[in-house]
Amino acid sequence: MINVRRAAPEDAPAMSAVLIASITELCAADHRDDPAALASWLANKTPEGVGQWFANPANTILVAERDGEIAACGAFNTDRMIILNYVAPNHRFRGVSKALLAAMEAALGPGEATLDSTLTARPFYLAAGWQEAGPAKIYRLVDGYPMRKLL
Ligand SMILES: CC(C)(COP(=O)(O)OP(=O)(O)OC[C@H]1O[C@@H](n2cnc3c(N)ncnc32)[C@H](O)[C@@H]1OP(=O)(O)O)[C@@H](O)C(=O)NCCC(=O)NCCS
Repeated sequence: MINVRRAAPEDAPAMSAVLIASITELCAADHRDDPAALASWLANKTPEGVGQWFANPANTILVAERDGEIAACGAFNTDRMIILNYVAPNHRFRGVSKALLAAMEAALGPGEATLDSTLTARPFYLAAGWQEAGPAKIYRLVDGYPMRKLL
């Protein structure tokens, strides 16, 4: 069973573990196992780094629990941008990201929303009704693919 809820600062260590595993193991198409790209991407995903995101009132941070453990993390900001959406490898393809994205879209409410996708997640967002919104941007040595959706 999947349960999406608001995250709390106490969740930061578990969120950090999910983010590091998701990026390292699932996003190889993006970082191409380049140590510099991976190090730069993971730099702010430590428990301390994740903990700091809670201090920013512009961020709404969610976690999806599956079978009682944190399986994915998501966040969006007051600019209506989805800034985080990562599932743990052991919970992949079990409907977790779909449930988390649906919860974020519902919380955002009607209007345009944006995100910068990984190469890995592009087909996932396209299947969820998101559209390409311009050329790739270089983020921390990794490309981000701008997308938008009218919610
Ligand atoms: C691609 C990814 C986002 C999908 O998330 P997930 O939680 O594993 O997937 P879900 O179970 O929610 O399934 C969503 C969709 O993935 C696709 N999918 C499901 N099982 C699949 C499989 N075995 N193989 C390929 N695609 C599959 C389907 O399109 C599915 O939608 P459907 O159920 O309507 O057919 C995720 O696996 C991933 O790689 N995340 C890495 C982190 C990342 O790049 N995040 C984005 C940051 S912008």
